[in-house]
Amino acid sequence: MTDDFDDFDEPESAVTASYLQSDGEVEASLRPKSLDDFIGQPRVREQLALVLRGAKQRGGTPDHVLLSGPPGLGKTSMAMIIAGELGTALRLTSGPALERAGDLAAMLSNLVEGDVLFIDEIHRMARPAEEMLYLAMEDFRVDVVVGKGPGATSIPLDIAPFTLVGATTRSGALTGPLRDRFGFTGHMDFYEPDELQLILERSARILGVRLESDAAAEIAGRSRGTPRIANRLLRRVRDYAEVKADGLVTPAIAAAALAVYDVDALGLDRLDRAVLSALIRSFNGGPVGVSTLAVAVGEEAATVEEVCEPFLVRAGLVARTPRGRVATAAAWEHLGLVPPPDLVFGSIEVRRHEPQMDLFES
Ligand SMILES: Nc1ncnc2c1ncn2[C@@H]1O[C@H](COP(=O)(O)OP(=O)(O)OP(=O)(O)O)[C@@H](O)[C@H]1O
Ligand SMILES: [Mg+2]
Repeated sequence: MTDDFDDFDEPESAVTASYLQSDGEVEASLRPKSLDDFIGQPRVREQLALVLRGAKQRGGTPDHVLLSGPPGLGKTSMAMIIAGELGTALRLTSGPALERAGDLAAMLSNLVEGDVLFIDEIHRMARPAEEMLYLAMEDFRVDVVVGKGPGATSIPLDIAPFTLVGATTRSGALTGPLRDRFGFTGHMDFYEPDELQLILERSARILGVRLESDAAAEIAGRSRGTPRIANRLLRRVRDYAEVKADGLVTPAIAAAALAVYDVDALGLDRLDRAVLSALIRSFNGGPVGVSTLAVAVGEEAATVEEVCEPFLVRAGLVARTPRGRVATAAAWEHLGLVPPPDLVFGSIEVRRHEPQMDLFES
């Protein structure tokens, strides 16, 4: 399970991007199985296809691959696809499971040539394991320390050439030396609504759900750019359609079902709306500090800041200013209110900040 917020109780919202226990059975069946099957992330797909094809032509193992991006965007799926495309086995572990260097040494020495070793949440690996990984990635070698104290000796051990695929939700938390040893980094980005619609239509075919394309668009718009959320909402909508209707998912059925689960037209849940409502109704749109806002909705500041706020900001509903959080005009409108005429944080004003990211990328 990937969860960056183990320090406090995360509300089990239908639109959390984190893996929920109830996602378990179905997620595997909905994973894309090949690069061609993978919808969205055109850049990462194209780059990876070149990396893999180059390695195949040379008859060697491809460079180590780091996949970074927020939860639920397809990092684990992509790691499985890499092994599938190479026709090799995937060995799976995670950063938190590699507490002792010995755990990693055991995994590494069992690798067969060409294997893909997938380390999920690689930023959470313990230091000694990480240092062992440097050598393994560079020279396909591990130094196994035998014994303790002054009598300890280190025995170098060759391991089979392999490809490491690391996944991280926080690439900034990776140490420089580790990051430098990846030959290729794929940044996963939030999906566009039309990509999510295609993903939903594919999932519906696999699950045998009759889904009208307008209904797929309706669900896509509430999925926060995240396939995991889209697939979860599809399952909730399917249940509703089967119990309350004849199983066919129409836009009206989708909207009614998602209202039951407190997911609104923009994909906000109950707590998101409570935060927006407090910001606007109790503090007249701000600016107000996060902790004050948290008290007003009866939540911990960390929950508001780390669970609600990132999406509210991304959706252009809340702006962070040096003096606190401010509701944008779009937020007022989303709650059915008229924004005050002197509000500088209009939706257009805020969105203008986002495309600047593209300047660095292209
Ligand atoms: N491009 C895609 N096309 C279709 N389904 C996808 C795609 N990306 C992700 N999914 C679906 O979303 C689910 C979550 O994807 P995955 O587990 O690969 O995400 P992740 O990035 O590894 O998440 P985490 O950070 O929580 O580990 C998968 O089960 C899969 O069904
Ligand atoms: Mg994963």
